[in-house]
Amino acid sequence: MTAPAAARIVVTRRIPEPALELLHGAGEVWLSPHDRPMTTAELHAAIAGADAVVTLLHDRVDDAFLDAAGPSLRVVANVAVGYDNIDVPACTRRGVIATNTPGVLVDATADIAMALILMSTRRLGEAERMVREGGTWSWSMFFMLGTGLQGKTLGIVGLGQIGAATARRARGFGMRIAYAGRRRADAAVEAELDATKLDLDELLATADVVSIHTPLSADTRHLIDARRLALMKPTAHLVNTSRGPVVDEAALAAALRDGTIAGAGLDVFEREPAIEPGLLELENAVLIPHLGSATIETRTAMGVLAAENAAAVLRGDPPPTPIG
Ligand code: DGY
Repeated sequence: MTAPAAARIVVTRRIPEPALELLHGAGEVWLSPHDRPMTTAELHAAIAGADAVVTLLHDRVDDAFLDAAGPSLRVVANVAVGYDNIDVPACTRRGVIATNTPGVLVDATADIAMALILMSTRRLGEAERMVREGGTWSWSMFFMLGTGLQGKTLGIVGLGQIGAATARRARGFGMRIAYAGRRRADAAVEAELDATKLDLDELLATADVVSIHTPLSADTRHLIDARRLALMKPTAHLVNTSRGPVVDEAALAAALRDGTIAGAGLDVFEREPAIEPGLLELENAVLIPHLGSATIETRTAMGVLAAENAAAVLRGDPPPTPIG
């Protein structure tokens, strides 16, 4: 009797070694030789005949991807908690299981959200640029004043795991917590954070800092647009660590330029890695290159969880973290 052929596992970009090791135990691994997003043509050619594909957030998983993979495909394991790159209904229609990596990047992302809150409210990007550029400065009572967080309100848009972890950190800085979202948070989480639920417009009008933690979907694209930015206080700051298109970047640049709001801290952008040119010239915009989950520990945990998802489906077991 001939042994069944090993499962073909395609990994679309380099991932941490422990994750690759796990995949090697589950089948024959093809790893992209490019440490960059593959072009659509490269991606589609690479996945032909795959049983499992381990994708990154820049890989588009749509009908064309599923056609290119063919009927052998059983699982798409995304190495990200966000899955706006995956057409989940298209996967479901073809019996392909899609998985993501929730949980393991909560703390790292909340750390970055808190860092952006501090950077924006205390003008740290602007200050660092000034020092490096050899700017003239001396201590004075009124030099580069920021705004304190104690007693201020943090408005969380989307009080899921990352939103709640950010709120916990902000409580440590003396902030009060309000939130908006489609669903009411767990009573225990609300009680722990002493969090008040508001509707989104009310939250924007009330908060001193707004931090976005909602996934990107058709409903949340440009959720924060010119109208909603105009509801915010002129002293308020906006932080986004979720997905860029949740904020209308051109409208945000205009709001920062004309003083509609005081500052913004962004880890994610509408057309990554491109950044709205209007933002690049603003001192009151802190811009960092999608680093929310960028720690060795977190990226390893994400890779391993994605590999466990793929391996489980290939074995015929339920994956630990299916989408939906
Ligand atoms: C995710 O997992 O969705 C993050 O954006 C990756 O940093």
